[in-house]
Parts: sequence; structure tokens; C-alpha cells
Amino acid sequence: MEYISESEKQLAIIDQLRRRVEALSAEKGRPLTYHVVTFGCQMNARDSEKLAGILERTGYVYAPTEDADFVIYNTCTVRENANLRVYGRLGQMKKIKQRHPGMLIALCGCMMQEAQVVEKIRRSYRHVDIIFGTHNIFKLAELIQTRMVTGKPVVDIWKDTDQIVEDLPTERKYPFKTGINIMFGCNNFCTYCIVPYVRGRERSRAPEDIVREIEAAVADGVSEVMLLGQNVNSYGKNLEEPVSFAQLLQRVEKIEGLKRIRFMTSHPKDLSDELIEVMAHSDKVCQHLHLPLQSGSSKILSKMNRHYSREDYMTLVKKIRTACPQISLTTDIIVGFPGETEEDFKETMDVVSEVGFDSAFTFIYSRRTGTPAAAMEDQVPGEVVHDRFDRLLDLVQKKAAEATGRFEGTEQEVLVEEVNSHDASMVTGRMSQNILVHFPGDQSLIGRLVRVRLTKCHGFYYTGEITG
Ligand code: 5AD
Ligand code: SF4
Repeated sequence: MEYISESEKQLAIIDQLRRRVEALSAEKGRPLTYHVVTFGCQMNARDSEKLAGILERTGYVYAPTEDADFVIYNTCTVRENANLRVYGRLGQMKKIKQRHPGMLIALCGCMMQEAQVVEKIRRSYRHVDIIFGTHNIFKLAELIQTRMVTGKPVVDIWKDTDQIVEDLPTERKYPFKTGINIMFGCNNFCTYCIVPYVRGRERSRAPEDIVREIEAAVADGVSEVMLLGQNVNSYGKNLEEPVSFAQLLQRVEKIEGLKRIRFMTSHPKDLSDELIEVMAHSDKVCQHLHLPLQSGSSKILSKMNRHYSREDYMTLVKKIRTACPQISLTTDIIVGFPGETEEDFKETMDVVSEVGFDSAFTFIYSRRTGTPAAAMEDQVPGEVVHDRFDRLLDLVQKKAAEATGRFEGTEQEVLVEEVNSHDASMVTGRMSQNILVHFPGDQSLIGRLVRVRLTKCHGFYYTGEITG
């Protein structure tokens, strides 16, 4: 038998489905439409671009709302809130589907990797047609085809995979920037986090595949890439020929026409001197590092299984700032992890004061079934957590405004992203430090790197004037 790769198989199915979609469109006298709703992180945003790419290739046309022929929810389960929002939306979709003959509803993403979620949906949300998880999004066309042929709900969840399917179509949300997966999964098992259970074990893409994908994106107008992984600092360790993340960055840097490189997320325990060295000397790697702290208390960090102490984190910050004085540091912080005392929380506040992050995402601890922390004693009462959360948010905002303000009056390189949504005579762009800048300009600047004088800081963004 002739061997065909998984991507060849899927491309063939996309072709078959395209004919089916054409026939349905002819029946209806209009194109079939699709809408993708994305919850969660940058990984999910990138997965949604892949889902949209497959749907476009099969002939579905983008619709701006969920009143479409094919609606897919790409879910997140990192915190309880994200799950509740999905159930809410699904509830509303029941009525919409009744009014819309032939409509298909699909669910995918992290939430679907949890058996009890899938059970609940099959029991209580029978209007859902297709359910799949995080490991087989490349099969979207096949799953739609199966649903159309059998007329029955399709459920296809994989527990884990070592398969990485290359070269399927994607549809970028922005013409000039895109996320690029460099690895999938996570091996860290922080005790609060469900990601290792829903995204599986860590696996890295081959550097040649990554470079090839970026080269193609650049040829198609991309100026900026965001290299994506749950823990990019451990990239390449399990490849047949191991490659470090810093070495990968150096290879990506050589791609002609690519102007900026970002990456997300870095785990402090694995951030190497080699990476700091590359960041310090690169013209393309942005001066921005997202370095999740989670807690400022060494005791809590240990209970979180983070493998660093408060002192380790502070030493790392000093080392980075010495090598890259212009860098912007951002972070994630969880409030109310089990056993967090007022003293522990004050240590988090101290670290926030000392570091002065450019911005911080703050989260209330969410108890995720199946994680070690969910079974820990000393869960912190809700009102205590909310009080701490408010105090932390105040401090984070004050510090962020101070940190952002340090560039006032300087001239910076800005990548123009879009015409300002409130004022059409202005455009909005981003500095290397990921800070937003609004300044007079027009559509023709989109995707270009321009020099801008930052005239005024408004908390977390700037207004300015183009100088070149
Ligand atoms: N509760 C609250 N926040 C969480 N995060 C991950 N798991 C949880 C949880 N159970 C946060 C972490 C992580 C970010 C993506 O989400 O801060 O860095
Ligand atoms: Fe992203 Fe984690 Fe949410 Fe999945 S669970 S979408 S990996 S944040």
C-alpha cells in the first residue's frame, strides 16, 4: 500500500468536504458560513487560526457572529470561570440552532480533555454535534464529514499524542503578525494547573519545520512572530538532535524580512544564561519577557512545585535587567493558593514592589479537579482572597504606570498594527517592549516599523508623533 502522511490524508478529506459544502451552498443559494469563538491563551488563539484555515479551505465563509452554519467553541479550562462561560453560551445556542436549519455546533480545546465535561455536554447539551480535544484539531474536516455522512454526534478525544501534523492551512487573524507553535504540552505539573492533564506531555517541533513555517509566513507579509509553548525555555530537549531555545532563536533571527520575534511563556526555573545573552544582542528578539512569578512566598512556591524561591526569582530579574536594561517584564500572579497566609501574600506584594512589572495578570486561585492543590487543606476563604486580590491589583496598576512611564520623551521603534478604533486619523502600534502607542497616521502604515516620539504616557499606553 502506498504510504500517505496524515496531512496528505487530511488535505484529501478537505477536498471531499469542499464538494459537499459546495452542494449545500447551491441548495441554499448562498455560501455556508462559520464562526470560531476562542477562550483562553495564545495557544488557543493559534489553534483557532488553524481551525479557521481548514474551514476556509473547505469553502465555509467567515461570519462575524454565532448566527452561522458552523459554530465552533475552542475552550479553556485553566480556571472555572472559563468553563462557566462556555456553558452559558451553549445554553443560548439551543434556541439559535432551532431557528437555523442545518446548523452544526462543535466544541474543542482544553475543556474537552476532561471526561466529566464531555459527559455533562452529552447529557445536557444534546444540540452539540461535534466534540474533540486538543490533540486532534488537524482532523476538523474529517469530523465534520463524519457528522454530515452519519447524521450522528461525533466525539473524538485523544488522551495524548506524540503526533505533530505539519502543513495544514491556517488563516491568520492579522496579516502582519502570527503565533508559531514551537512545542506542545507541558511536563511541569505545577500543583494548581490543569494544563499538563489537558495538553499532554511536552513535545517540540523540529527546528527546520519551524523555520520553514516562518519563512512562508514572512513571504506572505508577516513581520512579527510569537513563538508559542507552555514552557519555551525547555524547547528542544527531547528532539533526536537536541537544540536549545536560544539556538532556535538564533536560527529564526536569520530569516530575512522577519522584523520581530516574541515568545511566550518562560518558566523562571529553565531560563538560561544563553537565552539572556541572545536577547541582549539581538536586533529582532523583542525587549519583553513574560516571566510568571505566581507567588512571592518561597513556601507557597514550593507547594506550587515551581522549583524556584523568591530569592532565585529576584536574582534572575537582576541578571536580566543588567544584560537588557530596556527590557519590559510582565508576569502572572495567583492569589489565594491553599495555605497562603497574610505573610505569604505580603511577600508577593513586596516582590511586585521591588520588581516593578510593566504589567501583571492577576488571578484568583481556581480549584481544578484532579490537580494536587485541589486536595490540599487550608483552602483560603473567598472573602479573604477577594480582599487580597483588590490590594494586589491596586499595587500592580500603580507599579505598571510607573514602569511604563520611563520611556516618556524618548523615540522608539513601533510596529503599526491597526487604525485606531476610536479615531480614524490615528493608528495604533506596539513598541518592542509590547507597550501600545497611538499616533497620527493612516492605513498605509499597517505592518510597518516606524520611529515614534513618545510625547505622553497615559498609564499603560502612550500617545506620540511619527518621526521617521
Ligand atoms: N487558578 C488560578 N490561576 C491559574 N493559572 C493556572 N492555573 C490556575 C488556577 N488553577 C494561571 C497561572 C498561569 C496562567 C496562564 O494562569 O498564573 O501562569
Ligand atoms: Fe491555554 Fe491552558 Fe487555557 Fe488550555 S487551559 S486554553 S493551554 S490557558
